[in-house]
Amino acid sequence: MCGIVGYTGPRQASRILVEGLKRLEYRGYDSAGVAVQDHGALAVIKKKGKIAELRAAVPRDMPGTCGIGHTRWATHGGVTDANAHPHLDASGKVAIVHNGIIENYGALKEKLEKDGVRFSSETDSEVIAQLIARLYEGDLERAVKSALRHLKGTYGIAVIHADEPGRIVGARNGSPLVIGVGDGEMLLASDVTAMLAHTRQVVYLNDGEVVSMTPADFRVSDADDNPVDPKINEIAWQLDAIEKDGFSCYMEKEIFEQPESIARAFGGRLEPEYGTAKLGGLNLSRKELHAVERVRVIAAGTSWHAGLVGSWLLESVTRIPASAELASELRYRNPVVEANSLYIAASQSGETADTLYAMREIKRRGGTVLGICNVVGSTIARESDGGIYVHSGPEIAVASTKAFTSQLVAFYLLTLTLARMHDMSHHEGILFMEALKSVPEAVRKTLLLRDRIQTIAKKYARFRDFMFLGRGILHPIALEGALKLKEISYIHAEGYASGEIKHGPIALVSPEAPSVFLVPGDQLREKTISNMKEIKARGGPIIAVADEGDAEVVSIADDCIPVPKVDPRFQPFTMVVPLQLFAYFTALELGRDVDQPRNLAKSVTVE
Ligand code: AGP
Ligand code: GLU
Repeated sequence: MCGIVGYTGPRQASRILVEGLKRLEYRGYDSAGVAVQDHGALAVIKKKGKIAELRAAVPRDMPGTCGIGHTRWATHGGVTDANAHPHLDASGKVAIVHNGIIENYGALKEKLEKDGVRFSSETDSEVIAQLIARLYEGDLERAVKSALRHLKGTYGIAVIHADEPGRIVGARNGSPLVIGVGDGEMLLASDVTAMLAHTRQVVYLNDGEVVSMTPADFRVSDADDNPVDPKINEIAWQLDAIEKDGFSCYMEKEIFEQPESIARAFGGRLEPEYGTAKLGGLNLSRKELHAVERVRVIAAGTSWHAGLVGSWLLESVTRIPASAELASELRYRNPVVEANSLYIAASQSGETADTLYAMREIKRRGGTVLGICNVVGSTIARESDGGIYVHSGPEIAVASTKAFTSQLVAFYLLTLTLARMHDMSHHEGILFMEALKSVPEAVRKTLLLRDRIQTIAKKYARFRDFMFLGRGILHPIALEGALKLKEISYIHAEGYASGEIKHGPIALVSPEAPSVFLVPGDQLREKTISNMKEIKARGGPIIAVADEGDAEVVSIADDCIPVPKVDPRFQPFTMVVPLQLFAYFTALELGRDVDQPRNLAKSVTVE
């Protein structure tokens, strides 16, 4: 969850570390710290709170050219200066930063304490520093490897030792680590955004691997000390893609980028000649794709919502049974992995632990898993059998927006590909493709509704309970609208299938509990209007998102957001954007920290 950054080279380390942490703040932001080598000693500065607190505490002229930094998302131990990373061992010689959870830390700590080791934090992570110091015999890499043998759980770690100037040792098991190869300098980080300003040459570390680096060199090996041949990758992301670009926050920027990010997701992937899509990364032959009898999506949070839309669409268009399941549930329910089922792990970050472990469970049982990921080179992308990159560019705001609509595009492309292998005619394929091509413009027009949506958000910002209601392919959009609102405004919101409200949720309806209706453009429109009337009859305020020109909806709803009319199968795009804006403006009105909402982190690398 946390951000890790390490630097060794000729330049002042503290500056590069703090800048890197600033880039990683979206990964966890309850506390932060740095440890820097200086003349045979380690200087540690750590602070609870945002990176700004740390920055203020780090002297401008802090000496040292090798160090490690961390931004924390606490799992074990409260949010305090003492629990912030880096952690030192009792002698002050070893400093570590850790991402993940050491599950057997209790037993290890007890044993070390019995041997007289004094701990100074409540974290699980500190045992790593203490253990490495105990096992150190003049070779940090060796001591780290010995310590790892005792650890159970997940980790990405970076370690320095006062007696080994210029050396950083990193290791991973379940939490990402990337090596940045510079010119006479090296970096280590939990994701590439921390080093984009310094290098584009990166090496992704795999689980079980250890790296030892100095400014001039690095060596990757496995736990048994066998050397691993590192593959150097070139990062395509531009530095300006991780700037706010004049917007007040990343979420706003990312919402407004969607016409371009959606177009990028299908760009170069449509084949008008054949009325189908071309997905180069699937690594499945046409024969294998044709043999698919069932599609099962696994994902978490917003990516699960994309999976629900995707599976609804896939089944209705291709007639191949499809479903989406929460990854955290699948892993522990002893799932049946059927032959000819195609599994899809959908994840913006490609690092979500629940999704990654569920994917590994399926692979272990012989299943084929495709990834729908945004982050190139992420663990899910690398470990899947093939997949679709959604190319939405870096998504920094904790609340996912543009990655969601790009994931939708990936599902629409896959649907088109599979449908064209079965019942969909060339002509229907062309129509589907044209509808997809019109989405960026429809989203651009939807974004023009910003002022209207802001006014509505202001009007309702003080309400404490919301229901979001949609049917069919819009049911997952209702779930997504509710999730967006609760994530960034902390208002209680629930998403339901609108046909379901009479089975219970209608008891919540009152003048204090507004309902946000998503009105479908297909045969379910009438039914949805009846559901709206049921709420209205009970005094519940109604906000409706409906196709423009729907006078009947306007006459029933208290407030209406009229969106451009599109093929009903493509309404998830035009309907989710107003809900993103509604959540954003509500959070703004309430003075929330939109990009870094409380208790959350961007990339959830713990279970
Ligand atoms: C989205 O707004 C959330 N922050 C969260 O639900 C997220 O979608 C989930 O953690 C999955 O992340 P992933 O797509 O990176 O796997
Ligand atoms: N488990 C560690 C802690 O609570 C690391 C958390 C993180 O990944 O930020 O300190």
